Amino acid sequence: MLIEIKRDKPGAVTVDVLAVPLWQGEAVGTRGAAAQLDARLEGLVSDYIESGDFKGTLNSTALLRTRGKIAAPRVLLVGLGEKSQPRELEHLRQASASAATTTRKLGAASLAVLPPAVSATDSELAQAVTEGALLGLYTLKKYKTADDEDSQNALEQLTLLAISASTQKELQRGAERGQVIADAVSLARDLGNSPGNDINPSYLAATAQTLAETTSLDCRLLDPAEMEELNMGCLLGVAQGSAQPPAFIILEHTPQGASGAPIVLVGKGLTFDSGGISIKPAGGMEDMKMDMSGGAAVLGTMQALARLNYPRHVVGLVPASENLPSGTAVKPGDILRAMSGKTVEVINTDAEGRLILADALAYAVEKYKPACIIDLATLTGAVVVALGSQATGMMGTDDDMMTRLREAGERCAERVWQLPLFDEYSKQIKSDFADIKNTGGREAGSIIGGAFLKEFVGGTPWVHLDIAGMAWTREGKPYVPKGSTGWGIRLLVETLESMPTLAAKSGARSRAKTKAS
Ligand code: BES
Ligand code: MN
Ligand code: ZN
Repeated sequence: MLIEIKRDKPGAVTVDVLAVPLWQGEAVGTRGAAAQLDARLEGLVSDYIESGDFKGTLNSTALLRTRGKIAAPRVLLVGLGEKSQPRELEHLRQASASAATTTRKLGAASLAVLPPAVSATDSELAQAVTEGALLGLYTLKKYKTADDEDSQNALEQLTLLAISASTQKELQRGAERGQVIADAVSLARDLGNSPGNDINPSYLAATAQTLAETTSLDCRLLDPAEMEELNMGCLLGVAQGSAQPPAFIILEHTPQGASGAPIVLVGKGLTFDSGGISIKPAGGMEDMKMDMSGGAAVLGTMQALARLNYPRHVVGLVPASENLPSGTAVKPGDILRAMSGKTVEVINTDAEGRLILADALAYAVEKYKPACIIDLATLTGAVVVALGSQATGMMGTDDDMMTRLREAGERCAERVWQLPLFDEYSKQIKSDFADIKNTGGREAGSIIGGAFLKEFVGGTPWVHLDIAGMAWTREGKPYVPKGSTGWGIRLLVETLESMPTLAAKSGARSRAKTKAS
């Protein structure tokens, strides 16, 4: 899609649909672009508002024919809901998606948006509009041979109206960022929505290689022989029941001049989770093609960081495997040896995510001595019970990072909520036969997943995000269509951008220390 920022009066812009986002209770007033537009339309917009026919509730729309009074044949009023921080940009993102999908339904090809009043910079505003529109229009067409309604129509052009040269430049910057983010999220959604017979570990590896060819990222892959060499017994153990070989993806973003220890992102790349010998019930098992969503989020985030020229050294790791039952599959009672040397008794082969992550975390710690690690994984059904589809479960060893993640999540509307990781929980994973076991009974299921992972991070500041409730949606919302959500990329980019560059960071640390002492 073509995205452009134009310094046009709303009455002069030649597009199929001109969208006017309005807050609940907002009048068009007597000045400004909306008022000008209303005057050109002889009071049509204010009449809709004053009559109560358009109330501005979030994502409500009213379509007006303009009958030659302005260049655009249609004006679309779009409700932004109640104007209150910190959700203003989120409402704009949703309203923009509503405008874009409504326009597509009309069969119209071009849409212009009149920027509303928001408590944000022009760049943030443009990013929200662009993200909302592009992510709302997302579809995966590859697997349908007959066109449905939405895929017959295509919105080809999105225009953001600027009022001055300075806003134009800032809007441009935000729109470019929005495009980068939307591309990354769409990549992750494609991977999550595509079936397991296409998206296997080798496919994820090939995707990472393509990313390296098309960006400044470096990609390295470990093959099973190298995993053997590194003693990655847990990843190999999970993969041994499948005909598909496992993969271990290493993507590296090394900007010029970056110094110091890297930030490592780890994503669970389980391309299909049947449960293995501890097989899952049949109902809904098809959704388990999305069990690589953490890995997809890491791939997407790495692509976005490269395109945004993020200033710090970042490594993305994705252990990838299938989890299938067979004569060669790992069995309950089997004991695996992780790369760190710890032995793990497999109680339930369906608790496989923590096994493949164990080797990735150990690899991160040993090879990179990272400044910090953030992992994303569709790890437990229990987190869906605890938090539903409104927040990701967060656990970790570093309060500063968790605060950053929580605040970034509020800003970009990808929320996280902390669960405790008290030392006492680790008692639940003591094994009679090995160092630890991979499940710990029915209590505190998500926390036990976290407690298990904690065994492999040593003293590295680390946060675990259990995204099982967020990676997939059966309902959808305006900019998140049904299916794979691409959750976590917007959160990670927002969080990493809030982290100080290294020189500043050591300064901030010593300041914090002086304060505390
Ligand atoms: N991939 C699943 C978790 C999951 C559940 C993701 C629902 C998305 C939606 C994971 O591998 C799993 O099977 N976890 C088990 C752990 C249990 C055996 C300790 C679970 O949650 O039942
Ligand atoms: Mn499982
Ligand atoms: Zn799984």
